[in-house]
Amino acid sequence: MIPTNIRAIAAIILSDLLKGNGSLTTHLSKHKTSKDYALLQEICFGSCRWFHLLEFELSLLLKRPLKKKDSDIRCLLIIGLYQLRELSIADYAAINETVSAIGELHKPWAKGLVNAVLRNYQRQSEMVKDCVAKADLSVRMSHPKWIVDKLATQQSNHLEEILTNNNQRPPMTLRANTRKSSPSEIQKSLEEADIQATLGQIAKTALTLTKPMSVEKLPGFNEGLLSVQDEASQLVPDLLQLKPGLRVLDACAAPGGKTCHILESERSLSECVAMDISSERLKKIKENLFRLHFKATLLSADASDTDSWWDGNGFDRILLDAPCSATGVIRRHPDIKLLRKESDLSSLQHSQKSLLESLWACLKPGGLLLYTTCSVLKEENQDVVSAFLESTDNAKYEGIAADWGVECDNGRQLLPSANTGSDGFFFSLLVKR
Ligand SMILES: C[S@@+](CC[C@H](N)C(=O)[O-])C[C@H]1O[C@@H](n2cnc3c(N)ncnc32)[C@H](O)[C@@H]1O
Repeated sequence: MIPTNIRAIAAIILSDLLKGNGSLTTHLSKHKTSKDYALLQEICFGSCRWFHLLEFELSLLLKRPLKKKDSDIRCLLIIGLYQLRELSIADYAAINETVSAIGELHKPWAKGLVNAVLRNYQRQSEMVKDCVAKADLSVRMSHPKWIVDKLATQQSNHLEEILTNNNQRPPMTLRANTRKSSPSEIQKSLEEADIQATLGQIAKTALTLTKPMSVEKLPGFNEGLLSVQDEASQLVPDLLQLKPGLRVLDACAAPGGKTCHILESERSLSECVAMDISSERLKKIKENLFRLHFKATLLSADASDTDSWWDGNGFDRILLDAPCSATGVIRRHPDIKLLRKESDLSSLQHSQKSLLESLWACLKPGGLLLYTTCSVLKEENQDVVSAFLESTDNAKYEGIAADWGVECDNGRQLLPSANTGSDGFFFSLLVKR
């Protein structure tokens, strides 16, 4: 039987994520019509965000660890602790509801255990607090140890700032469709609908809502006046130095946020090709283009297998927004903390290098390739570009002069920021000689 109890559903989702199955977005999309969807979303996002801390607290309260096959019970306990720690639900209600979720997990033996652990958490809160205060940074800031260790070496001056910002709820940032309206005009029309927004600080098309809300309620969304997109991503069209008549390739394009922004920024391109390896995700680009009334050539192909898709005509501009660890967008996707493993980095780096090398052949002499990732790890950023530059005679790094981010070897790094509200993002602009 399919569970209907919100806490049971959340425990199953969390347990699936721990096994590396799916993502929060894909799991939650199946429950969008549930009347308790907002609570389910809150519990799932919060339990992922604070997972490593809650897991440590749980270990203090369990006499012995649970068996691997009882990962759902472990996750239900984590969800219980999350509610007691972070939510304004009355403690007795949170405990009762969590215990009653056991019915739908079909493990009646766990009822007493869940009840006892959650009640013990209330009673022993001082002991738990003391132990957390003495624990490792990765526990206190609730991150996988491997990410903290890497950032401690690579971003030592910004370590606590990155971890703190990763644990914030993300701001909702909009992109004004400047073909139709300016950001300040959109800000005004939002204000008239009692929606407060501030203008972007690093991208000229961006606006950040003071309070996130559903897109359907945003005036102008259905008419294509605005889209939802993080501020860092909105820097892409300017960096690409778009001009009329250029042929542009967005090589890893789905769901098409940057493709649409490219088309909004320059209306007279000779062609814009949007490609993605996933035909399923390509449908998302189609939907976004349709809403904004734009046209692009859509290709479903492996960008690194140029023989399978390239017609031999060069591109003036290529955007390679490469698949990556997504360690720069943890606050938007806290499930990254559970899903990503250190061992993923070498295969990600391998495909980033291979995409860069293959796509270089498709760039015209004098053309620009913008390599971007939403990663904060140098293995996927500077290391990929530096290795490529070393092995490619006709490639040169064009510095990015900007008042945002941090200049690093062959690129510019933005870190997840509380001030500008932007995500962690890496940019490297390469010119073909
Ligand atoms: C970071 S996301 C792109 C986000 C997109 N640029 C945007 O702004 O909406 C990376 C995308 O690369 C695609 N991808 C991964 N490997 C690929 C490959 N070898 N060729 C083409 N696309 C690939 C994935 O399916 C995913 O949609």
